[in-house]
This record gives sequence, structure tokens and C-alpha cells, in this order.
Amino acid sequence: MMNNIFEIAEACLHNPTIDEKLAQTHHAKLLLDNGQLDFSSNQAVQAIGGVKFPEKPILQAPRNMPKRKITSPEGVIAFFHAIAHVEFMAIYLAWDLLYRFRGLPEQFYQDWLCVADEEAQHFELIRQHLRSLNVEYGDLPAHGGLWDHAVETADDLLARLALVPRCMEARGLDVTPAIITKFAAQEDTAGVAILNRILSDEVKHVERGSYWFKTLCNQQGLQPETQYQALITQYYRGGKPKGPFNREMRKIAGFSDAELDWLEMG
Ligand SMILES: [Fe+2]
Repeated sequence: MMNNIFEIAEACLHNPTIDEKLAQTHHAKLLLDNGQLDFSSNQAVQAIGGVKFPEKPILQAPRNMPKRKITSPEGVIAFFHAIAHVEFMAIYLAWDLLYRFRGLPEQFYQDWLCVADEEAQHFELIRQHLRSLNVEYGDLPAHGGLWDHAVETADDLLARLALVPRCMEARGLDVTPAIITKFAAQEDTAGVAILNRILSDEVKHVERGSYWFKTLCNQQGLQPETQYQALITQYYRGGKPKGPFNREMRKIAGFSDAELDWLEMG
């Protein structure tokens, strides 16, 4: 078995087989915990176009996805399948962040490996829950846009941190509490437990994104809040992520009042 973090990352990104990817991810985390992980970067980084995904689920534009309410059994299944896909893609996003950007402190790589491992755990929890509902991940189509920001920011680390952890993933902090309330009202205790677990981990992941964004901006003499606005404006082509924003959780996750005020200005 490999023990170099970048070789394992490349293997994970280039392997479309779900169970192998999960095993490789947990193996890397175990090596880290045992002090056996090698962080030397000796090989060229492969282009992001080489990343491979499973044949299923079939990917669709979000506008073509059927809209279902979670008050129906089909709606619950569609919801958890969508979340399984988000978590599955989050494994790729964490590995890619770690793989593509080199020459950073070892802590950077340790942080994103821990994120990849937790995303793999989230995916496994939801896959298990789907199986209890007689559905396998891949049985339904899934949102095809979750990799777009990764491709657009493949050669700009600050943009990657602004757009992926501090935008896409931060969105989960805004929307998940209300979804948990709905599942609680339906007395879906298994669903509530999974979503609570994911939410508490996700706050830490976004916080790591904020921490590294600020640290790297400061090292480059850039003002983090100005830089965040500039990158979001650039990649949203003048637009902005839509609210409402969960200020309380986003502040725990490292957003400043100035950043939140700017996002809320509409
Ligand atoms: Fe997650």
C-alpha cells in the first residue's frame, strides 16, 4: 500500500470505484494518525481533466431534477440521494484541494485529509440510510454542477478556498437547520441524527477554509475581506451567492461581520 499523501490523493481522484476510494481515504487517515504518512511532493500534478467519476449516478442539470417535498416517501429518498451525492463529491473536493496545491505547510494537507475522511464517513452514513430505504447511491440522477467550481479554480488556491469551502460548502450551514426541523417534525430520528452529525462537521470544514484563506491572504499581503469579495464577484460574474445566510453558524465558521454584511447586501 502507498504511504505518500499525494500518491494516495491521485489514486483516489483517478479511481471511479466508490468502495476503493472510501478504503483509500480511510487508509490515508489511519497512516496520518499513526505518524506513517509521507508528505514529500516529488511528482507532477496531473491536470484536473483526468479526475474520474463513477458511471452512475447519471448527472443532470439542476433544472431538470424533479422537485419533491420531503413529506412524501419518494421525496425523502430523493433528498437523501441528493445529499449522498453532495457528500460523495465533497470527498473529491477535499482530495483535490490537497492534491493540486503544493508547497504549503504540512498542517494544510493534514486538515484537508481529515476533511476527506469525514466526508467519506458522511457518505457512508447516508448510503447506509438509503439502503435501509431500499435505494442504492446511483439509482437516481444527481446534480451535475458540483465539480464546476473546482475546474474553474484549478490553478488559483485563494479562489478555490473562496468558492468551494467558503461558498458551496458554507451554503449547507444556511439550509440544513431548517431541513433538520422538518425531519424532526416528521419524527424521522435516523434522518435527524445523520443531518446533525453532518452539520456539526461541516462547520469545522468551512472554518478550515476560512482559516487557510485568511492565512494565505495575509502571507501575500492581501486584505482577506477585500479579496473574498473580489473573487466571489469574479467567479459569479458580478452576481453573488443567494441568502438567507446563517450568520451565527457562519461566524463560528470564520466569516467576519463585514463579509456577511457584504453577502447580505444582495
Ligand atoms: Fe460532509
